[in-house]
Amino acid sequence: MCGIVGYVGKHSPKDFLLNGLKSLEYRGYDSAGIALKNKHDLQIIKSVGKIKNLEEKVKNASLIKSNIGIAHTRWATHGAPTENNAHPHQVGKVTLVHNGIIENAGEIKERLLKEGYIFNSDTDTEVACGLINYYYDGDEIKAIEKAIEKLTGSYAFGIMFEGNEKLYAVRKGSPLIVGINDAENYIASDITAIINYTNKYILLDEGEIAVISDNEVEIIKDSKKINKEVLTADISAEAKDKQGYDHYMLKEIMEEPVLLENTLRPFLADISLIPDLREYEEVHIVACGSAMYAGMIGKSLLEEKASIKVMCELASEYRYKKVFYDRKTLVILVSQSGETADTIAAMRKAKENGIDTLAIVNVKTSTIARETDRQIYIEAGPEIAVATTKAYILQVAIFGLLAYRASNSINIISEIKKLPRYVNEILGDRDTYLKIAKEIYQNNDIFFIGRKIDYAICMEGSLKLKEVSYLHSEAYQAGELKHGTISLIDDGTPVFGIITDDDIRDKTISNIEEVKSRGAKVIIVSNRKVSGYDRQIIVPKISDYFQAILVVPCLQLIAYEVAKLRGCDIDKPKNLAKSVTVE
Ligand code: M6R
Repeated sequence: MCGIVGYVGKHSPKDFLLNGLKSLEYRGYDSAGIALKNKHDLQIIKSVGKIKNLEEKVKNASLIKSNIGIAHTRWATHGAPTENNAHPHQVGKVTLVHNGIIENAGEIKERLLKEGYIFNSDTDTEVACGLINYYYDGDEIKAIEKAIEKLTGSYAFGIMFEGNEKLYAVRKGSPLIVGINDAENYIASDITAIINYTNKYILLDEGEIAVISDNEVEIIKDSKKINKEVLTADISAEAKDKQGYDHYMLKEIMEEPVLLENTLRPFLADISLIPDLREYEEVHIVACGSAMYAGMIGKSLLEEKASIKVMCELASEYRYKKVFYDRKTLVILVSQSGETADTIAAMRKAKENGIDTLAIVNVKTSTIARETDRQIYIEAGPEIAVATTKAYILQVAIFGLLAYRASNSINIISEIKKLPRYVNEILGDRDTYLKIAKEIYQNNDIFFIGRKIDYAICMEGSLKLKEVSYLHSEAYQAGELKHGTISLIDDGTPVFGIITDDDIRDKTISNIEEVKSRGAKVIIVSNRKVSGYDRQIIVPKISDYFQAILVVPCLQLIAYEVAKLRGCDIDKPKNLAKSVTVE
């Protein structure tokens, strides 16, 4: 969600900035812009739509000689995705790019209008830019400090001032790093934008201002220079290539077996590395989107297998609702990016109430990884496709381990070790998924039905399909359909019936019969054959703790094939952002 890159060095920043924006495309955006600068001159070029539109405009422009620059991909919040609203914004001597939302932009705008300021866009960003300019009297740090004191909301800013050759950066809520190289330095929303240039970086913390020139990076906190550790990124440039696959989504699904092996290995060697949740009377699992659906699987397993009371809640609700912390509680935050604004707010709410927090997270340098009490890392590597696939599977695997560790189960370690091989087998059956995709890709409404843990699987299957293929789909508790929704089932309506839970199997089959007899085109996904159905995907049977991991990859591949048949922008679906850093 919004991507920022910036450059200071001896060369023209153009190529670095455009390449950086392309690396951040996965975050989601609807317009883009670039500002090139030398000590006194500034040139801003913006465009709506894809980065190639911006590239085209830059190619056709007569560019100023520059050695500093900032660029931005915008995911519209305040104001439509127009060229005017695209970043960078310039007010007076200040030019900036912004990721986040300034919540009090309205009142600041009123004040600045009275001071004679004129605004050319509908954005909160231009207001922030105006405020920094308002305080600017030649001291850049003072101007930034005074302005951020007045701003509420979230921001990562890359800022340039007329008359100097430095780049300034500051953040609150939204992520930003400073890349370190010889004779040139950078800023970026995340490491993927700079990894082809350097793997050395500084994590900018809230309240710190980075002052960046071609040969020096200073970090200022409370008006004083502080020392910050220079970190080394452990991702390779290849990890973010498609490596021959048509799409990142497909590549990332295909990585699941290896990544499962890597993620599970240390825990299978020593299960005590997994926290024993029996020390808590209650667990709250809080997350957004697919991470929440992984949490629903966790809830089901922890309740059924370990008899632990679990609440699983969307972070956007949890952060504002009345939560009773009246028992010894653990809050588990699940997040691939570790930067999801609502999940961060939920984490902070738990911490303010003195509650223990545990993260199940992919990005080790993220806010959630850094601010929780304990972390379990999924070793997914960079996930570029907006639709999460491998990270979800690994999150579910961690919940399987947490439930197993907290239960009095017989030893199933040797069975767990079979998981990667089974997933590999499932992924090999692409013809079956393509055949099913061809049968459903022209339908308008698709249903996923199941009960208990199978309903949680349905939620993820349905989300995956709708986000990449733009088809309307719904996940439903199979037993609830007849209370209203079954009226939507017509002749030929595709219904995926998910059945892995043996305890409720017969009941789910009865519910599936109900839709079949109303004309539904049923596709069974189960670990055992169901008689009377032509379309069936039968996955290997494994211990209940990990059965979901053998079902969801099939649904991911079906979603992928449907999206491909419908000609969708699979890795960057419309309106979506990879990392949702605003609330
Ligand atoms: O980075 P996070 O895991 O916190 O992201 C949470 C959701 O935004 C994310 O899972 C989203 O639902 C995906 N697009 C689903 O594929």
